[in-house]
Amino acid sequence: MPLATGLDILQAARAGKYGVGAFNTNDLEITQAVLEACEAARSPVLLALSEGALKYGGKPLVDLVLGMGREATVPVAVHLDHGSSFESCVRCIRLGFTSVMIDKSHEDEATNIAETKRVVEAAHAAGVSVEAEIGRLGGVEEHVVVAAEDAILTKPDEAERFMAATGADFLAVAIGTSHGANKGKGRPYIDHKRIREIAAILPHPLVMHGASGVPAYLVERLNAAGGQLKDASGIHEDDVREAVQHGIAKINTDTDLRLAFTAAVRETLLAKPKEFDPRKILGPARDLMRQVVAERIEVFGSAGKA
Ligand code: 13P
Repeated sequence: MPLATGLDILQAARAGKYGVGAFNTNDLEITQAVLEACEAARSPVLLALSEGALKYGGKPLVDLVLGMGREATVPVAVHLDHGSSFESCVRCIRLGFTSVMIDKSHEDEATNIAETKRVVEAAHAAGVSVEAEIGRLGGVEEHVVVAAEDAILTKPDEAERFMAATGADFLAVAIGTSHGANKGKGRPYIDHKRIREIAAILPHPLVMHGASGVPAYLVERLNAAGGQLKDASGIHEDDVREAVQHGIAKINTDTDLRLAFTAAVRETLLAKPKEFDPRKILGPARDLMRQVVAERIEVFGSAGKA
């Protein structure tokens, strides 16, 4: 079926108080794992490509993801994650993406508004939805490293001004999460009060970046197979569930799939030193990623919504 827009999927999610995963993909196996898990659970989904993914795989990767998304039996949007410029967003719109993110959250408010507005005009003319961001997450935000103490949480009044001025469709909010596998000691803090305040003013779907759970069993398997991941921590499942009840509709997940991929590849190489068929090495990684996506869908509450 034709691809859905991000807004089609996320408006229904916000109204129905469930979250939908935006899973980052970089190749065939990740895309298969995500779509197979979503089809099995009857869950809508966003397949997200970052600029890093576009650089890595180019148009052939985009065509693969678009093609697989159209073949799926559940609603799929193909989304640009953290677009850094108007040009980058327009390139993706021309390639067939149905959703783009323009991330000028590192600029001042006036620049963020002006650049986001430009993208909204071009995207809406093509029937494509737009995610924007205000505030600043900790961790690595596509090339920019932000120390935890430099993270700036999204202010509700600024969010209201920003959405009214730009016409963006959904908003990434900084509420305590960060990208990557080290999200803070113990149970990372999530500012639920802030989510409630923003959601009380804005009817738009809200987006949680840096939402990976970094499950202990994956970290243990990865390290037992020779990995060296220290102090790994993620967002507690109950915090994701609570955030969804308050207005978070799009939940970005990349790290959990990377962990599953690497754990499974390491295990296979260790257990089968004579194996050199890529399919026998990547197949188990795809299986474990599919399981992780299924677990995420349970947490988000999107099963049966397609
Ligand atoms: P994680 O690193 O927590 O998976 O977050 C990914 C993300 O937010 C991509 O935009």
